Amino acid sequence: MRVAGVLRVPGDKSISHRALILAALGDGPSRVRGLLQSLDVHSTALALRALGVAIPALGDDLVIRGVGLRGLQPPTSDLDAGNSGTTTRLLAGVAAALPFASRFIGDASLSRRPMGRVARPLTAMGARVAFEGPGEGLPMTVHGARLQGLTWRAETASAQVKSAILLAGLVADVPVEVLEPEATRDHTERMLKARGVDVRTDDGMVTLVPSARLCAADQSVPGDPSSATFFAALAAMADGGELALEDVCINPTRAGAFRVLRRMGARLSYEDRRAEGGEEVARVVVAPGSLRGTDIEGSEVPSLIDELPMLACVAACAEGETRVTGAAELRVKESDRIRAIVANLRAVGAEAEELDDGFVVRGRARAPARAPFAGRVTTHGDHRIAMAFGVLGAIPGSAIIIDDPACAAVSFPGFWEELTRVVV
Ligand code: S3P
Repeated sequence: MRVAGVLRVPGDKSISHRALILAALGDGPSRVRGLLQSLDVHSTALALRALGVAIPALGDDLVIRGVGLRGLQPPTSDLDAGNSGTTTRLLAGVAAALPFASRFIGDASLSRRPMGRVARPLTAMGARVAFEGPGEGLPMTVHGARLQGLTWRAETASAQVKSAILLAGLVADVPVEVLEPEATRDHTERMLKARGVDVRTDDGMVTLVPSARLCAADQSVPGDPSSATFFAALAAMADGGELALEDVCINPTRAGAFRVLRRMGARLSYEDRRAEGGEEVARVVVAPGSLRGTDIEGSEVPSLIDELPMLACVAACAEGETRVTGAAELRVKESDRIRAIVANLRAVGAEAEELDDGFVVRGRARAPARAPFAGRVTTHGDHRIAMAFGVLGAIPGSAIIIDDPACAAVSFPGFWEELTRVVV
């Protein structure tokens, strides 16, 4: 298989959610360019509209009139987060500081995901969070209150929880501190700073100093490194050619998969590195290499947490063993990704086994050749499982059937068309 082409993957999902939320809370109009227009981001837009913000129809270039830190209105409906954990957890932080109740609902996958991790710190700040079922899943009602400041030692490395606490502190005008066990993506911190808020990071502790207002600010959203990883992996596994991925966010808290692909033997380089929209951005150029297995440990996991399904599929085509540990968080993503990765790798004929906190893949780079992988993949509606196995299925001779390819639209509308276009 040869690959060729230049592509610009859609805007970063994490930054897109935050761009909408911070624009809504800003003290004037903010322009957002390059927003990801995927189902997850639509969920955030929908929830903000229910809270009284006039978010226009999503597009490549939009202006949002912020209502200010205290301008949100009691919701006109339940806040339906669809499949999106980021929508739920970030907006739960905002809702905790509002003088009314907000009820969050979501699809079956989201309703199974743990919300206690966000409820606990928000409760410690003074909000009341009520679950309707026996567990800590949606539906969840956040009863906002006058909050107090918080110092929170997070048990799990989660940018969503960190961001929820920062947003609660911001809207409530109280100081907060979050100590992270491992550094997680820092987009919230960068974007708050760009809007005039005093946020500092020191030795794993993120501190927000209260600020009476949030300045409106324009935002351009760089390409999503998580989406780019699918094409970087495709190029790494190809027999020839090269792919150039334009305007990709290479923030070090997000670029772990690029580092791992290089370590596995792919020829991957950053060209035209520059700062844009408060992030480091580059053209990521990837060409095939002879791939070998690698170890990925806990300290590296937050920087590539969403990329592990794709890296697991690359490992199936690499010489030797790949062992991922310290990644128990994968069990509470859009699906139990440890189980889904291993079961699907086996279903298509690769060798893999589950660990409690990760997995092992034994690759077959040599005979009987990389392909064919053949079989049926069960996505459990998980976009990243669908796309990772879609890339594996693009290897000539493979015969992989994906049960729900449409779920890619959660984060990457147009994925399948792009995949067809770059394989030559
Ligand atoms: C995200 C953080 C990560 C990631 C998710 C998006 C974010 O989740 O897996 O896709 O935008 O903050 P956790 O912070 O819960 O690990």
